[in-house]
Amino acid sequence: MRAVDIIEKKRDGHPLTEEEIRFFIQGYTNGDIPDYQASAFTMAVYFQGMNEEETAIMTDAMMHSGETIDLSAIQGVKVDKHSTGGVGDKTSLAVGPLVAACGAKLAKMSGRGLGHTGGTLDKLESIPGFNISLTSEQFIQQVNDIGLAIIGQTTSIVPADKKLYALRDVTATVESIPLIASSIMSKKLAAGTDAILLDVKFGSGAFMKTQERARELAREMVKIGKNLGRDTRATLTDMDQPLGLAVGNALEVKEAIATLQGKGPHDFVELCIGASALLLTQAKLVDSVEEGRKKVEAAIADGSGLAKLRAMVEAQGGDPTYIDHPEKFPLASRIVPIYAPRAGYIKRIDSLAIGISAMKLGAGREKMTDTIDMSAGIMLTKKVGDAVEANEVIAYCHTNKENVDDVFAEVQQAFEITSEKVAYPPIIHEVIS
Ligand code: URA
Repeated sequence: MRAVDIIEKKRDGHPLTEEEIRFFIQGYTNGDIPDYQASAFTMAVYFQGMNEEETAIMTDAMMHSGETIDLSAIQGVKVDKHSTGGVGDKTSLAVGPLVAACGAKLAKMSGRGLGHTGGTLDKLESIPGFNISLTSEQFIQQVNDIGLAIIGQTTSIVPADKKLYALRDVTATVESIPLIASSIMSKKLAAGTDAILLDVKFGSGAFMKTQERARELAREMVKIGKNLGRDTRATLTDMDQPLGLAVGNALEVKEAIATLQGKGPHDFVELCIGASALLLTQAKLVDSVEEGRKKVEAAIADGSGLAKLRAMVEAQGGDPTYIDHPEKFPLASRIVPIYAPRAGYIKRIDSLAIGISAMKLGAGREKMTDTIDMSAGIMLTKKVGDAVEANEVIAYCHTNKENVDDVFAEVQQAFEITSEKVAYPPIIHEVIS
């Protein structure tokens, strides 16, 4: 079998056999197939797509390119959640503790942020001492003890995706449904949980720009998960404005803490409650989403969700007093107000522009080797649907950098203001199961 023949077959729009897909993934992972052939392959898939069967085989081949985790030593149904990536998306920091407080076992492996999207690991590392590298034994023990652990993905899980994702990132082949579905699902399936909730974002700050494309991706991933015996569901959620008010690592941790104290911004609270309620049904701890919502609301009201976050931070070596006293997180040296250029209603807040601006202020990485300023980011003070006066503050930029006036201007331009009243948009648009 030759890689070039497989590339040619896909280039010409023909479905690949199981043998061909496994040959390609194995060959690329062990170095027999070079980057230039893998680039041509991913571009062929980008244009020609893959059918359901090919995508399922690709996922399985990638999943078995490395180690798979056995979580059977954890009692009860093990659940995981995954977001396709957005701006201000700190959902795991609140949903993990909330479902753990309601009796679920959340065993999560997370990633780092790149470009305009943040990563859960970076956010957690803004808490001094927090350790994202537990051994498998420590990970299992912690989930058994407190119902919750969030760690970094070990290098031995899905090595095929590490190589392929890095390659796709620089060859303009990220936005392909079969490639995204196999990339995400191979990692989720290798991580070994019984149930998976996928939060598929759509809008300006997401890979999928429209709800239709997000639905297509969600359906593909749900099918792959179910075929392998995992209870897999997906929410389609809005990324046409940043999630919540905070964008940036420590700022987002503080917002997650506020949410667990019952003081979170409306859209973020709604997403956390909705996602947690779904996870509780998947964990078979409640009979309906409604019952799940009530349990989750109670875990916010009685402080048990916040206590779980504190317990996780302490168990993973972080300083739990930052959870008790979030004012301990250091602030950036410059907190610069951004003003509304006119009166009206906020129609749109370009998430992509806000994400890129936050990165330029120091909150994110352009390259994987860049370092992050944990205190940097953007705090919105207005959301879509809010009324605003001319010269009213719409956001604050937090930065330790000088000479970023152009970024302040970009943040102002990310807000679209209209004279007509704008309805508050829903956050969860659909649930796919
Ligand atoms: N996240 C992933 O893990 N993989 C993709 O392909 C896209 C988003």
